[in-house]
Order: sequence, then structure tokens, then C-alpha cells
Amino acid sequence: MSGWDERQRAMLEAMGLRVWQNAAPAQAPAVPNVPAAAAATPAERSEPPPARPAASPARPPAAAPPAMPLRNAAAASPVAQMGWDELRAAVAGCRACTLCEGRKNTVFGVGNEQAQWMIVGEAPGEQEDQQGEPFVGPAGKLLDNMLRAIQLRRAPGTPEQQVFIANTLKCRPPRNRNPEPEELAQCAPYLDRQIALVQPRIILAMGRFAVQSLLQSNEAIGRLRGRVHDYQGIPVIVTYHPAYLLRNLVDKARAWEDLCLALDTVEQRRPR
Ligand code: URA
Repeated sequence: MSGWDERQRAMLEAMGLRVWQNAAPAQAPAVPNVPAAAAATPAERSEPPPARPAASPARPPAAAPPAMPLRNAAAASPVAQMGWDELRAAVAGCRACTLCEGRKNTVFGVGNEQAQWMIVGEAPGEQEDQQGEPFVGPAGKLLDNMLRAIQLRRAPGTPEQQVFIANTLKCRPPRNRNPEPEELAQCAPYLDRQIALVQPRIILAMGRFAVQSLLQSNEAIGRLRGRVHDYQGIPVIVTYHPAYLLRNLVDKARAWEDLCLALDTVEQRRPR
């Protein structure tokens, strides 16, 4: 008999995690069984390794912190006054940075406009650019599984069930390169406004660019996860980008912990 009850086991399976018999939930060395998919998005190349005691980074230490998106400027932007229709039109027609030149579609975001959960990713990849929808490639499949594991989804549902998914950038960077600080700054008012309109109870920030944009932090995900952060009064849980998880299967167990922390946070702050 394992330490997981039936419901927890079903959740873990939905997320692609296989649980050994006799594993206690607290340690839960859940063994991922989802194969890695081909790298396609910036996160797959850029997610820094999590903080580990004996970590010897394969890549050079991060350069000086990049300029962060300008939150004060964002607050003063006319975008901050827009309703949904105006905001959609503004994103669709945006030419604020050079990313507009290479895009096929802008990727506004999808989901319930009153969702309790908001997922913030990084930038569209090739498939997202083609379809105009976030997280439709391999990373999106994992995201869908992660959401299903905690009884959430992108498909239509109530604000309790259906999330809103948005990216920090609404246009695909060429060849899926990392977003530039200037691009993040230009796009920040759109994400800010989406969050202000949705007013979620919780934000899941996936990957380092979501974190940079929302928390103005250049810290590694591994250092920021495991606690509750704040974006304008809304709790933010930092977790690994699904594209990174596809290449780093062992960190799926940590991502599962992050989802559990998010669930607990929503539950604790639920109005009584
Ligand atoms: N990665 C992201 O961060 N967003 C997408 O929409 C797709 C991949």
C-alpha cells in the first residue's frame, strides 16, 4: 500500500508521474514516465538549472541582470484602461517592437476571463505562432496534463475549472530565441492588463521570463520556487516551464510540489 490515496494517484498519473509503491507523499520521489520531446521554445534552451547543493553549471554564470520590464511605465500606459475587446485589438495590431515583423499571428491568450487560476508562460513558439494559441506544442501537452492533475483545464468551464493562459510576449521571437528586455518591457502592459481584467486568485509563473516580468527578479527558478510571491496583491507561485520539464524529468516531482503549494495557497485564501 503506498502513501498516496486513489485521488492523488490519479492526479499524478494525469501529470505523467509514476509513483513507486510505499512512497510517502512527503518525500514523493515520483518517477516521471513521460518521454522528453524535441526542444522547441526558448524555455527549453534557457531555463537555468535549479539550485542544487553540488550543482556545477554547464553554462557560464548568468550575466549581469537584464533590464526588467518597466512596471511603472506599464501602469501609465493607455493599455491599462482597456477592456477585453480593445485589448485584443491592440495586441493583434501591435507594432511596438520588431517581433511584429516575423510573426504569423499574435498569441493573445486563452481561457476564462474570470478564471481563478492564471498561467503565465514565456513566448509563443512555432506552433503557437501558427495557431495563435498559447501552449499548443509538446510543452502545452504537458501543461494540459499538469492542469488536469489538479482538476483544472483550458477547455471551457467555470472560473473554478478553466484557467486563463497568457504569455509574457505575444509574438514569437525569431528562431525561438530568448526574449529581449526591451521586448518584455513593450509587452508588459498587455500582460498587466490581462491580469487586472481576470483578477485571478493565483498566478502560476512558468519559467524565468514569466518570473522576470511578474516579479522583477532575475533569480533562478530553483531559488524562487517553494514559497508564495506577490504580484500586486495576487499570490504568485513560481515553477519550472513545461518545456524545461520535458528535458529535465526529475524536476517534474518539484513541479508537482509547486502545484500542491498553489492549491494550498488558493485554499487558504478562499473567502469563508
Ligand atoms: N512556451 C511558452 O512559454 N508559451 C507558449 O505559448 C508556448 C511555449
